[in-house]
Amino acid sequence: MTLATGAAAHAEAPVRVAQDRVLILDFGSQYSQLIARRVREAQVYCELVPGGISADDVRRLSPRGLIFSGGPMSVYAPAAPHPDPEIYGLGLPILGICYGMQLLVHDLGGTVELAERREYGHASLTIDEDAGLFERLPREIAVWMSHGDTISSLPGGFRGIAHSINSQHAAIAGPRGRFGIQFHPEVVHTPLGIEVLRNFLVGVCGCSATWQAESVIDSAVAGIRSTVGGGRVLCALSGGVDSAVAATLVHRAVGDQLSCVFVDNGLLRRHEAERVVDVMSRQQHIQLVHVDATDEFLEALRNVTDPEEKRRSIGRTFIRVFEREAHALGDVEFLAQGTLYPDVIESTSHDTQHAQKIKTHHNVGGLPDDLRFTLVEPLRYLFKDEVRRVGLALGLPEDIVWRQPFPGPGLAIRVIGEVTRERLDTLRAADWIVIDEIKRSGLYRKVWQSFAILTPVSSVGVMGDGRSYANVVAVRIVESDDGMTADWARTPYDVLATISSRIVNEVAGVNRVVYDISSKPPSTIEWE
Ligand code: XMP
Repeated sequence: MTLATGAAAHAEAPVRVAQDRVLILDFGSQYSQLIARRVREAQVYCELVPGGISADDVRRLSPRGLIFSGGPMSVYAPAAPHPDPEIYGLGLPILGICYGMQLLVHDLGGTVELAERREYGHASLTIDEDAGLFERLPREIAVWMSHGDTISSLPGGFRGIAHSINSQHAAIAGPRGRFGIQFHPEVVHTPLGIEVLRNFLVGVCGCSATWQAESVIDSAVAGIRSTVGGGRVLCALSGGVDSAVAATLVHRAVGDQLSCVFVDNGLLRRHEAERVVDVMSRQQHIQLVHVDATDEFLEALRNVTDPEEKRRSIGRTFIRVFEREAHALGDVEFLAQGTLYPDVIESTSHDTQHAQKIKTHHNVGGLPDDLRFTLVEPLRYLFKDEVRRVGLALGLPEDIVWRQPFPGPGLAIRVIGEVTRERLDTLRAADWIVIDEIKRSGLYRKVWQSFAILTPVSSVGVMGDGRSYANVVAVRIVESDDGMTADWARTPYDVLATISSRIVNEVAGVNRVVYDISSKPPSTIEWE
């Protein structure tokens, strides 16, 4: 293996399926990814591509239809993004959503202008004509609107097919399966939005609605085999579902050409490391190097209290240990990673560069860019829920597949202040109780994350007949769709009561438990 400097070679393990597909042209809407998720829920395979994709590239991907996403600009603004005009010559059905609809109108000869009144929030849509898009729907549906521009004249061949109080043309239909809708069918506030999408995808585009995440397995296996040939593949396991599924898929494709390295940083939850080794090595028979690097990580974290410094030092240590182990394995050309579609979208989206850095998430547990490997990323077109389905289909156990998200720096960012072996043990014991009780109450899969935090605060208590002066543990249980925003879970009082009394009774050094009732924003999910 060469761990030399130089640009990483990125190769796509082709997992693309011979499936009906549509392309979503992204014009910068905050909802673009959500559109993709909804389309997949309607069992049609889709990919999100930049709004400016060339007509040649679209042709190469041979979609059955196109969706133009919303976007933050006005179509008449000088810098507004437009599709390649030749795309209109491809003869494909097009569904324009909000800004996407205004693009259709503007580019095809109609007029869009600033609305007298912005329309934002819940609205009632009156359907005047099915036209294929509104088949089998009530005549009046609840929709979510968010726009400041309106259509004042339609392009030739187009007609209005639905209206709302503030939008005369809330939905339009034109020739060759072209539709525009002013509302957002992808958000939960448009409860029948998925049906509108389904009508477009199946009824208008003629897609067969047979997409299932599991169907990538065969083609991913074939893709990995053809990419890897007789070469060797390395995969870093984190204990999380993504790397476990990626490794299992690669193993199915190339068997013992795969070697996994699991760096145990000593910052994992109770029994987690043993479980990874048990499942991946003993059950799945994957060659696994298990490195217990706890001492090295704790040494690196000594006297470190700043959260970002913790992340950096864990990141550096991980790379050092991983490189050492990788060298020991000899020549390896390929690196398998559990990159998911949202990461791919995020790293190519134009917003990412401008997003303010709140926490240096993605540098931790990651590998440096200068490793000279060819990447094998068999999950790069899948969303998290799809990866879980693939994991189950590959025979991974439910507790691995349904694990809640866990941060790369692990418990180090949940021990507030300096991280020591003793404090990690205290937190681990409290955390185990939280997870245990949340699982027992059936909430584990319903919430996004549930965990304990060890605060550096000591408080007075009475235990037996004596006074105690011990640590405060905080419990954080949040609901979220994607971790970007979150709300504290309204966990039943009796569950919280059991968690609290068990922690105080069973965990030495803790005499008080508090429940975190902050939402994100303004707070974050993790405390550090
Ligand atoms: P925050 O705390 O930013 O967390 O609201 C959002 C989601 O990201 C996880 N998280 C991390 N994941 N490395 C990771 O891999 C990190 O440094 C990190 N910090 C937070 C967090 O658990 C939540 O799911």
